[in-house]
Amino acid sequence: MQTIQANNYPIYFNEKGYEALNSFLNESKYSNLFIIVDNNTNEFCLSRFLPFLETNLTIEIVEFEAGEPNKNIETCVQIWNVLTELGADRKSLIINVGGGVVTDLGGFVASTFKRGIDFIHIPTTLLSMVDASVGGKTGVDLGNLKNQIGVINVPKMVLIDTQYLETLSKKEMRSGLAEMLKHGLIYDATYWGKFLDLKAIDFADFDELIYRSVEIKNEIVTQDPTEKNIRKALNFGHTLGHAIESYFLENENKESLLHGEAIAIGMILESFISLEKGLITPDEYHQIKSTIKTIYDDVVFEESDIEPILELLIHDKKNEYGNIQFALIDGIGKIMINQSVENELILKAFEDYKS
Ligand SMILES: NC(=O)c1ccc[n+]([C@@H]2O[C@H](COP(=O)([O-])OP(=O)(O)OC[C@H]3O[C@@H](n4cnc5c(N)ncnc54)[C@H](O)[C@@H]3O)[C@@H](O)[C@H]2O)c1
Ligand SMILES: [Zn+2]
Repeated sequence: MQTIQANNYPIYFNEKGYEALNSFLNESKYSNLFIIVDNNTNEFCLSRFLPFLETNLTIEIVEFEAGEPNKNIETCVQIWNVLTELGADRKSLIINVGGGVVTDLGGFVASTFKRGIDFIHIPTTLLSMVDASVGGKTGVDLGNLKNQIGVINVPKMVLIDTQYLETLSKKEMRSGLAEMLKHGLIYDATYWGKFLDLKAIDFADFDELIYRSVEIKNEIVTQDPTEKNIRKALNFGHTLGHAIESYFLENENKESLLHGEAIAIGMILESFISLEKGLITPDEYHQIKSTIKTIYDDVVFEESDIEPILELLIHDKKNEYGNIQFALIDGIGKIMINQSVENELILKAFEDYKS
């Protein structure tokens, strides 16, 4: 598969990536190398990754406990301390091997350590391959506020090796799939069409689907790296999805949702809003709703859940001047950004989701 060129960094695929990584390490003058992992990627991914590495640099593995609740500043402080103790300096390189939690947090740790050192992403979940590792957003959560603290800063390279997915659970695969569906809905109707009959997808074709998804994300981000306009398209499903995700994360009586599971609900709700605004047809809406509902279990929303979810929306960083702004689809494969939506319509969307 061809290398994809992003703004200032290449995205390599599969084995070719390791050759590129080794040449990069041999040509660059790094002082030492730190590999950031969580306990799962330490267990499942380093046994594949380390044998590919050909370098004389000293390598230190820095591990933290897996999971979104650890994507916070306390974990960063621990890692900054470890880096300091182990002699990291301005010429150290960080390689993040993991899912979106590792790439977001590791990218942020690198971007802030000694005012910024170089880093590379090796995404190991579907979600981080098609989404989190591309586009330069790094950061951590603040309490239950997702990605409240962070910077935009690009890696030196991204290496996508789909072999890592072999050990990933079905649930996590489904979570990543949500972002792929999103890429189709906002940018490429033909691509969306490939997901209408999931049973027909051959796993051998899956690499191609991942590749196209990365291409779409990269095309959008390259046009608008700092999210002034078109990059907001990627927020489709996320305005409500993030609020739902935060609500389920903070509520002890609820089982928390994976990012993609929350986004899947957000995409149904926001498609309903698109329908009500006359942007998509009833047929398009029903196709979206039924396709997503076949893949993801229904989530129950009580009457008392909706108000706190709306409250959380206000904290969403995409809201400028207190206005809740949505990216809505304008037909499948096209997007319309900066759409205001009244609360009433949001409530109606939740009602429809339940039906
Ligand atoms: N920066 C961005 O643009 C961007 C975009 C989308 C999402 N994100 C962020 O990404 C995060 C979600 O990423 P995620 O879904 O990858 O979650 P994650 O990093 O928590 O990974 C999910 C789980 O899978 C485990 N895991 C990772 N790779 C594995 C493998 N190969 N085999 C077995 N287990 C493995 C992890 O340890 C974890 O338990 C969220 O914090 C979200 O905010 C960032
Ligand atoms: Zn997302």
